[in-house]
Amino acid sequence: MKLVSEVYQGDCLEVLERFEDEKFDLIVTSPPYADRRAKTYGGIRPENYVEWFLPRAAEFLRVLKPTGSFVLNIKEKAEKGERHVFVLELILALRKQGWLWTEEYIWHKRNCYPGKWPNRFRDAWERCLHFTRNRKFKMNQQAVMVPMGEWADTRLKSLGRNDVVRFDSQVKSGFGKNIANWLKRDMAYPTNVLHMATECGNRNHSAAFPRALPEWFIKLLTDEGDWVLDPFAGSGTTLQAALSLARNSVGIDTRAEYCDAARAKVSGVQLELLNEPPRRTRRADRNLSLDIPG
Ligand SMILES: C[S@@+](CC[C@H](N)C(=O)[O-])C[C@H]1O[C@@H](n2cnc3c(N)ncnc32)[C@H](O)[C@@H]1O
Repeated sequence: MKLVSEVYQGDCLEVLERFEDEKFDLIVTSPPYADRRAKTYGGIRPENYVEWFLPRAAEFLRVLKPTGSFVLNIKEKAEKGERHVFVLELILALRKQGWLWTEEYIWHKRNCYPGKWPNRFRDAWERCLHFTRNRKFKMNQQAVMVPMGEWADTRLKSLGRNDVVRFDSQVKSGFGKNIANWLKRDMAYPTNVLHMATECGNRNHSAAFPRALPEWFIKLLTDEGDWVLDPFAGSGTTLQAALSLARNSVGIDTRAEYCDAARAKVSGVQLELLNEPPRRTRRADRNLSLDIPG
């Protein structure tokens, strides 16, 4: 299988017209935020954001497989003393467009900048909204398991009577658990809070997300050889993550300099992979080639 990393310059609304229906397994992206960075790559006013986003989301819906996922990393700004509601409006509009709002992950930025405002504290998290076309979608939960850690050492040491049988929540939440099931296990499923530091080292883009972020969703929501799309690709972090995990990818950005940065990133990974000794477990990079169109 030959791995492909394609970078296209243009508005994703127009570029995506070239792609067939249901091509992609995952769309993971961080769009231009409302009214932010207007000088760098064109801010969209918060009140126009939903109207701007919806035609693009309709294209995302068309090019996504029925088993696929769309992960949208976004954060609303505060304006005139309160948080703007355009993200909430966008979620409602996307649901009307046909998306299921399957989950909301929180990216906790472990190393956010210090700061102080009179009515709030510094931002230390962003939303990663998970949309799907259907209730059944591809999800490899095993791929993102985490070490059981200290919780197991403390909580599991002293199991009570309620812990060794399935115990229905005392607050009648309907949530039942049998903690003893987790005895002697090394790994647990993660929560929906992702603790990841921002990467100051990415100098090619002023708003790049850390590579660990797309990597986590690519592992969870795709298999090797699948197709990943980042329609607002910036410096190509998603493409780099996809390639290092042996997935095909397409990135789109309006700005030529970001497209160049993205191409440079993936050709770097291609070279790294080519220089690695062959691994038996990886199928997808067997016939790795260096031709990166776009
Ligand atoms: C938040 S940045 C993405 C950064 C990226 N995640 C990274 O790690 O480098 C959003 C990007 O969307 C691009 N952009 C803005 N409008 C666009 C459009 N209509 N189509 C494609 N890209 C667009 C901007 O040039 C910008 O690079």
